[in-house]
Amino acid sequence: MAGADLMERVVNLCKRRGLIFPSSEIYGGFRSTWDYGPIGVLLKRNVKDQWWRSMVHLRPDVVGLDAAILMAPRVWEASGHLATFTDPLVDCRACKLRFRADDLPASGACPNCGATGSLTEARPFHLMFKTFVGPVEDEASVAYLRPETAQGIFVNYLNVQTTMRLRPPFGIAQIGKSFRNEITPGNFVFRTREFEQMEMEYFVPPEDAPRWFEYWCQERYRWYRDLGIPEEMLRIRAHGPDELSHYSAATADVEFAYPWGWGELEGIANRTDFDLRRHAEYSGQDLSYYDQEHDRRYVPYVIEPAAGADRAMLAFLLAAYREEEAPTADGRMEKRTVLRLDPRLAPIKVAVLPLSRNERLVPVAEDLAASLRPHFMIDTDSAGSIGRRYRRQDEIGTPLCVTVDFETLDDKAVTIRDRDTMTQERVPVAELTEHLRARLGG
Ligand code: GAP
Repeated sequence: MAGADLMERVVNLCKRRGLIFPSSEIYGGFRSTWDYGPIGVLLKRNVKDQWWRSMVHLRPDVVGLDAAILMAPRVWEASGHLATFTDPLVDCRACKLRFRADDLPASGACPNCGATGSLTEARPFHLMFKTFVGPVEDEASVAYLRPETAQGIFVNYLNVQTTMRLRPPFGIAQIGKSFRNEITPGNFVFRTREFEQMEMEYFVPPEDAPRWFEYWCQERYRWYRDLGIPEEMLRIRAHGPDELSHYSAATADVEFAYPWGWGELEGIANRTDFDLRRHAEYSGQDLSYYDQEHDRRYVPYVIEPAAGADRAMLAFLLAAYREEEAPTADGRMEKRTVLRLDPRLAPIKVAVLPLSRNERLVPVAEDLAASLRPHFMIDTDSAGSIGRRYRRQDEIGTPLCVTVDFETLDDKAVTIRDRDTMTQERVPVAELTEHLRARLGG
């Protein structure tokens, strides 16, 4: 499906099926922020859970953290954000709109009104949101909403390292909200002013940094592949020297083939010892590590895989979206929309459907759903034809539907219908939980 078309259909599906709504919609929307609905919140939670599972749960060398969004303003002086966290901003004198200088077409014309010669010189625009902490709104009470979760990890480095008795190489992982006053938010949840990051800072001996940088580039690429993004929609792109952030010795992006072209999904950076050195300098705390085995002291280097939960969710949605021909119950062909999501990401794992609204079937289906609920995220639906209900589940990516029919009342078995193959299998109710668990994996 062509790019713009695919994007429009995914955005429509998200609105129509309760995945993502425009924020403050009844007031006309608030451009640049989005709200996750009942199905979307499940999908996003699954994305974050899979990240946490692979980065913390399955690793002996990484621990978790949940630091505050508001931090001492000195943090942002030390990190360099106050001085350098800007984007180049250009104004159009004709239509008064503002743009990121690096987003402008080569022609130099205004991308909105087309005027030529109307764009101002680029000037730096600060991306951090400012607020006031406490009852007085003066310079002394200024604080910032964090623009990355990473700094919460650096300022807790010593707390975590000492309380958990960790020796490099080790990592600290965190998921949380970040805020940036983006000049041009857009492309749905790709670039927003409030978003969620999944970041891990991996502390290593300086000489090992290049090796760990390579390792984390491969590992993060593998994570997206494993969860179903095809190879042809993913690539790793190394940054050129002119693209590097103020703290980075090397950066590579895991890029995704978005409908508008290749774009960043996640950045992996070798942040050197920049952050720990700066925080040591600004806080007066010694953040070096004494390596007893080699009797030496060093400031660890940091390799940082930094992903966005919203962007990852968008990529999983775009990669999973299909419109295909499917047979109806009476043998005709009709179009179905299906999200071929990995079952680990699917918002609903199993839908329990009575064949009809018959008064003998509905209570059996309800009881069955109640017995499955402790094990899987379950949906029930009895409105409309069974074919239509399968389609509704296909649209939100439910891997399996369990149908209760009149035979169930006698043989105590149900039909399991597979989202991708649409094949059906009869399974005894007594074996259902184990059977579903095996089919869903993960
Ligand atoms: N600590 C490093 C850091 O924040 P980044 O490349 O600016 O690096 C990491 O951000 C990831 O966070 C990005 O790859 C993207 O997935 C996500 N992200 C950044 N800005 C975003 C925005 N305005 N809206 C949505 N996601 C964003």
